Amino acid sequence: MTDSTYPNRPLAGRSIRPLALGTAGWSFTEGVTDERILDTAAAALEYGPILFDTALAYTTPDLSANSDRLVGEVVRRRGSDVVVSAKGGHYRDATGFPKDGRPEEIRKNLDVTLREMGVEAVDVYSLHHVDPNVPIEDSVGAIDELRWEGKVHHVGVSNVSVEQLRAAASVTRIATVQNRLSPYVHTSLDVLAEVEKQGALLLAYSPTQPAKDTPAELTAVVEAIAAERGISRQQVALAWLLGLSDAVVPIVGSTRRATLQDSFAALEVVLTGEERRRIDGSA
Ligand SMILES: NC(=O)c1ccc[n+]([C@@H]2O[C@H](COP(=O)([O-])OP(=O)(O)OC[C@H]3O[C@@H](n4cnc5c(N)ncnc54)[C@H](OP(=O)(O)O)[C@@H]3O)[C@@H](O)[C@H]2O)c1
Repeated sequence: MTDSTYPNRPLAGRSIRPLALGTAGWSFTEGVTDERILDTAAAALEYGPILFDTALAYTTPDLSANSDRLVGEVVRRRGSDVVVSAKGGHYRDATGFPKDGRPEEIRKNLDVTLREMGVEAVDVYSLHHVDPNVPIEDSVGAIDELRWEGKVHHVGVSNVSVEQLRAAASVTRIATVQNRLSPYVHTSLDVLAEVEKQGALLLAYSPTQPAKDTPAELTAVVEAIAAERGISRQQVALAWLLGLSDAVVPIVGSTRRATLQDSFAALEVVLTGEERRRIDGSA
């Protein structure tokens, strides 16, 4: 375990490291093997208790829940340090990735996840996307019922606006909000303010990826700061997020030990005020 400048985050009665490991790439990366994934997961757990983020939708065309299955294997190997965040209301089928936030569908989704993971409950279960045909209160209410049944310990949402988050929080306490946030994509800064008010955590996805419309000047500034410091551009992006708020947990999407370790080295990187101004001034 390395030292960390950033404090652990409280979640699900635990104290987790301030970086989480995402598992979308575990199912969507060409040529990836179980052995490589389990080695990446083991590398993450060298840093202490880690949140693993999975979803029913993160799977291959031939399997019902590939990333859930792999997270289950990680739990079997190192259960006590693994905090599981799973998501439903969105899945993969022959047509693509439909959203279905109906309560009965969410219940079925969770059953598949629990079966594939080989566990009786997950730490956090989130609505992956708001279904435009189902009020968010109904979808979140279904997850809250599953919490009462003991299959889910905490409730989360993902890809929400401030209004949707408030509507969800009118049903039950929201522990995590998973939205895209990075030096390149600032659209969820208003959601972060609401997350802080509610005492929740913002799990920031795609933390190191520029967006299609990211100005070239911004990517150049991030790369320049990385070059000046002799670190990767991914570390600069993660340090930007970690320095934003103690309510933020960036989810890194590694499928290899080397990238995982490079990202976790960001726990020792603190950007100066001047560096932050250069980044924010180019956004
Ligand atoms: N809720 C949602 O709708 C939603 C949407 C998107 C993502 N997510 C979650 O967020 C997670 C992370 O998102 P993401 O995969 O887009 O994040 P990301 O970490 O920004 O991007 C992952 C990609 O960057 C590479 N990478 C990561 N760290 C690196 C480093 N230090 N140096 C060099 N390359 C590095 C990875 O390479 P390697 O594969 O070679 O390691 C992979 O190709 C997902 O796995 C998923 O759990 C949620």
